[in-house]
Amino acid sequence: MEHEHISFPEAIRFIANKYKIEIEETEDSEAEKEKKEVTDSLYLINDFARDYYMDTLFNRNEGRNIGLSYFKERGFREATINKFQLGYATDERDEFTRKAVEKKYNIDFLRTLGLTTKSDADFFRARVMFTIHNVSGKVIAFAGRTLSADKKQPKYINSPESDIYNKRNILYGIYFAKEAIRKNDECILVEGYTDVISLHQGGIENVVASSGTSLTHEQVRLIKRFTSNIKILYDGDAAGINAALRGLDMVLEADMNVKLVLLPDGHDPDSFLVERGSEGFHQFIKDQEEDFIYFKTKILLKETAGDPIKKSIAIKDVISSIAKIPDTLKRSIYIQQCSELLDMREALLVSEVNKIIRANIKAKKIGIPNQPDPDKNEDEWLKQKTVLSTIPPELVINDAWQEKAVATILINYGHEMYDVEQNITVAQYIISNTSEILQYFDTEIPKKIIELVQDLLSKCSIPDHQWYTQNEDESIRNFAIDALTTIYVYADWDSRSMPLQNQKMPDENYIHDASNAILRLQLKKSKRLIAQIEDYLNNASDEVKSSEEYSINMKTYIYLIGQRNQIAEKLGTVTL
Ligand code: CTP
Ligand code: MN
Repeated sequence: MEHEHISFPEAIRFIANKYKIEIEETEDSEAEKEKKEVTDSLYLINDFARDYYMDTLFNRNEGRNIGLSYFKERGFREATINKFQLGYATDERDEFTRKAVEKKYNIDFLRTLGLTTKSDADFFRARVMFTIHNVSGKVIAFAGRTLSADKKQPKYINSPESDIYNKRNILYGIYFAKEAIRKNDECILVEGYTDVISLHQGGIENVVASSGTSLTHEQVRLIKRFTSNIKILYDGDAAGINAALRGLDMVLEADMNVKLVLLPDGHDPDSFLVERGSEGFHQFIKDQEEDFIYFKTKILLKETAGDPIKKSIAIKDVISSIAKIPDTLKRSIYIQQCSELLDMREALLVSEVNKIIRANIKAKKIGIPNQPDPDKNEDEWLKQKTVLSTIPPELVINDAWQEKAVATILINYGHEMYDVEQNITVAQYIISNTSEILQYFDTEIPKKIIELVQDLLSKCSIPDHQWYTQNEDESIRNFAIDALTTIYVYADWDSRSMPLQNQKMPDENYIHDASNAILRLQLKKSKRLIAQIEDYLNNASDEVKSSEEYSINMKTYIYLIGQRNQIAEKLGTVTL
């Protein structure tokens, strides 16, 4: 579908034909046939209307004197006008409708398409006409621009939505732009019909318009069929900037790269091109284009300068945009750069971004199945959200943090090699180093996970990410999703003094992280045992002190102290 830009059934036929596979096509049902006939009729009527408006523009006095001369004054050449099928609708009350009915076009369909009003008058009157095409070039709607300066008149009126026209799904100019978009691997997005036409005429053909509304998901998906790079050309006034910012997150979510060019205040792409000429325009775009996230960051910082509360809201805003980017590497590059712009520690940004990603997964914004549904079970979802994202790890007094860290690394990197020469996987390393302390675990889920993996390993099988995220046990699934998104938090980053930029990503560092997580957990457990035994030894009566039990405990105590010091030494920390 994507490669050939064809529909699903067309794609099936294409492949079947290529590999000589016979496909059995079922007959359309009666209802389907009828529907197809209706849409065919609608297209036919739109073709008729387009021809009529074009004929009026080129061949009749009113059209030539008013419409054609207007377009020419704007600098549109005849070839351009022809290509985009521009036209003119006269001021007569029902001239078009009468002609259409004369030609036996169905009046109900004329109304459905919005060409004819309820009172059988023409809908488009005394306007220059823009024909709107779908991606395969069929005429699906019209827009009419008034030439009157009367402020009460809407500047543009548009065909209503119909079976063949859904505003959300279409971008003006896509039919004429798609090849150029593919060739340039970039889609330029502007606001207006005239901007598309003007740029096209100026040799910039990879351009489409959102037609004055903010971008929809469907439109983003349409662009994505041809490219992942989008460049937004907007008016540099406040309204233009806000319109641009609104579209941003959605485009990021689609894993597209977004650049922005702000035009000088008061200009739209059309007027700017007319003023600067093609070359000047190209140069301007090249000089001014800016990455969207940095742009957003800078704008927000400027707007909130000197107001710490507003600034923190702005930072949250930027962070939530970054969290929308599905690509991990891209995300981390943005985090790095924004940490400089925002003057914030990178590790803090990482953990904030991860919080949002986790919340998004939980809120089902990211497609992992079997999550608690926030709509149905709000309490449960709120509880989870709060527990997972708001307790700072330092405040957890038991060993939950270390146990979670070990399980997190097991889930993320268990299948990787810990020691290539000895053929030991990370999972094997973790399992063999936790078996003695497993009985002292404070947290249920990490314990359960380690036990299950222990069992699998004994059967010579190593679980992959899916085994966790699709586990039959819901608590394991939830833990795993969390673990797969919070690896930054558990990786051994913050504790070191080296600037984060210079450190390795957790992906390159899992051997180090695994052994450190194990050591820290072992350290915690031995400290706890030591404290327990210390308590026993200190409170022992003279009678107890002479018992064999006491001397065993004493020996254990000394042994544990030695062990603890070894672990501490490996960790490079002084502990006493
Ligand atoms: N628009 C609309 N209805 C309106 C005003 C605007 O649908 N009443 C949409 C049109 O798609 C228009 C776009 O918003 O193309 C941008 O509006 P504007 O900049 O006002 O129009 P231009 O296309 O630039 O028209 P012109 O250059 O002729 O003023
Ligand atoms: Mn304009």
